[in-house]
Amino acid sequence: MKIIIEKNYEDVSKTAGKIISDEVRKNPTIVLGLATGSTPMGAYKELIRMHKEEELDFSKVKTFNLDEYLGLDGNNPSSYRYFMDENLFNHINIDKNNTHVPDGKAVNPEEYCKLYDKYIEEAGGIDIQILGVGENGHIAFNEPDNSLSIGTSIEDLTEDTIKVNSRFFDSLEEVPKKAISMGIGSILKARKIILLANGTRKAEAIKNILKCDRISTQNPASFLLLHPDFTLIIDEEAYGKSK
Ligand code: GLP
Repeated sequence: MKIIIEKNYEDVSKTAGKIISDEVRKNPTIVLGLATGSTPMGAYKELIRMHKEEELDFSKVKTFNLDEYLGLDGNNPSSYRYFMDENLFNHINIDKNNTHVPDGKAVNPEEYCKLYDKYIEEAGGIDIQILGVGENGHIAFNEPDNSLSIGTSIEDLTEDTIKVNSRFFDSLEEVPKKAISMGIGSILKARKIILLANGTRKAEAIKNILKCDRISTQNPASFLLLHPDFTLIIDEEAYGKSK
């Protein structure tokens, strides 16, 4: 694991944006694994800026997102598809046909999960996977549990996650209780993994990665420690409890 500690969120975002853009310039047909949530928004802003000011070209880039709420379609402002369009795709020259967010309205969700892993494989696999982390150590929607899914699957959200994520909905009741999520195995197949975290809210989850000497399904992020090319980019507040 490599760790980069930045002063604040702005610097975390700039560093992440720079790493991603360098890779896109090196390989214009790159496959990016993308995440939603407040954490990667700054990095996406950087990518948009570089597209507008520095000719960063996304015309041949493919993307796969980690997860989507089950039951929400892409026109729903709380869906992850909507989030990605609003916060990245609508502002860069990417072909929307090359962007993939799990389909929350899939007719046969179980079958669809298998297809999603197949689509990733057919695209040649993910070159760089961007991740955030939940306050409870979840990655994508792989919540702490007695076992974790290897491939993409339907996951139950914990009460804590429902509460934390309710800020993106009009009320707590509106938060879906299930999601389609890439599995730990799908995530670990990426060639390079970058996890971003900022703020005191994430300090405990980061400590549980940095101080971890035994992986545990109760700490899903701990599995990332098995990956040969895993980089943590965090700010001083998120690093706070690990000092
Ligand atoms: C959600 C997503 C995760 C994300 C996490 C953290 O539950 N499924 O992929 O990493 O929350 O979100 P935030 O960046 O808003 O703190």
